Amino acid sequence: MSKDLNLTTKDKTTKGKGCSNDNHQRLSAGVEDKEMDNLRKWFSDKLALGLGNKDLMEKPKVLHTLDLDGIVDYIKSGNARNIITMAGAGISTSAGIPDFRSPSSGLYSKLCGFDLPYPEAIFEIEYFRKHPEPFFAMAKELYPKTFEPTPCHYFLRLLNKKGLLLRHYTQNVDALERVAGIPAEKLVEAHGTLHTSRCINPECREEYDRKWMTEKILADIVPRCEKCKSVVKPDAVFFGEPLPERFRLVEEDFPNCDLLIILGTSLVVQPFASLVDRVPPRCPRLLINHEEAGNEDPVMVVLGFSCGLQFHGADNFRDVAWLGDCDEGCYLFAEKLGWKEELKSLIENGCQSETISAVETGATGST
Ligand code: OAD
Repeated sequence: MSKDLNLTTKDKTTKGKGCSNDNHQRLSAGVEDKEMDNLRKWFSDKLALGLGNKDLMEKPKVLHTLDLDGIVDYIKSGNARNIITMAGAGISTSAGIPDFRSPSSGLYSKLCGFDLPYPEAIFEIEYFRKHPEPFFAMAKELYPKTFEPTPCHYFLRLLNKKGLLLRHYTQNVDALERVAGIPAEKLVEAHGTLHTSRCINPECREEYDRKWMTEKILADIVPRCEKCKSVVKPDAVFFGEPLPERFRLVEEDFPNCDLLIILGTSLVVQPFASLVDRVPPRCPRLLINHEEAGNEDPVMVVLGFSCGLQFHGADNFRDVAWLGDCDEGCYLFAEKLGWKEELKSLIENGCQSETISAVETGATGST
């Protein structure tokens, strides 16, 4: 994994959204290529203006309407066969797991007692190596009572059951997508998982399971490796650590995406946030979230670059924001698609009682 794919956040105050110049410097070569493409497109658009080439100036007709109904029509017309979903902590809050940045309920607002230089230090690998205690104290305090997937997780599984899900990219480490029955080959857990843990000593790297880690956390013990006595850390990716190798699937998945659905994320952590720019230029992008996220950077717009989601600009022809609760949004989405009863039955049966079919396990799909 190249250094470019190290986990970074926009700033230490956790404020701000969209693309910043700072983020651009940190991104991988693929995105730099895209910027060159944008530059070329900008020049060609300017030239087209001079030549009166109307085709290049007209907005493509991709969606009938720039709302959820437009996206539903697009799916029903058979245009979406390779849907990519991108998720963050907002899809798990109704399971009792707090998100990070919501002002009063988010994890970063609850860290005052932990004597941290800034909230995100708790997930920084260098800080953790010297001071592992705050992380484990926080983990105990916020340890979920149950690990039950939400209706939103089941909606994602339903997309897969319909044979429409190319891949689900998640920043969440709670593994609820797995519990909901989304097959492993359809998942990219971009920020790792709490499912397994590992000794941080590079010479050792002994692996431990969730049960072992849970016992230590609940007993207020900083977990130490049984072999070498170094600290053991869950396999969640910390700031400053490389993303999992599987994140490389971005290169093959995103050019093939025909609908991007983004759920429950503030889109401020890189390189995940920039994935919205990796889909083809006419690919519709739907955000389901409490508030808008990942908005286009106005400075970049003035410079003629498109970077981030564009909900309000006169040029928008493909970005839709459905603002509200993720579960509610998914229920409504399913209803409009005529899948409401199927979604309800998946939720009622959970992942235990139904055999996951060949379609769902990806027997007919890719990678
Ligand atoms: P954030 O807390 O930054 O953003 C969660 C988003 O979901 C916010 O916009 C919330 O308003 C929204 N939200 C919360 N509950 C919701 C609900 N029920 N329905 C709809 N929207 C809801 O979380 P992430 O974007 O996931 O990384 O954060 C990204 C990364 O930052 C995390 O993976 C984590 C963190 O630092 C690491 O720890 C390495």
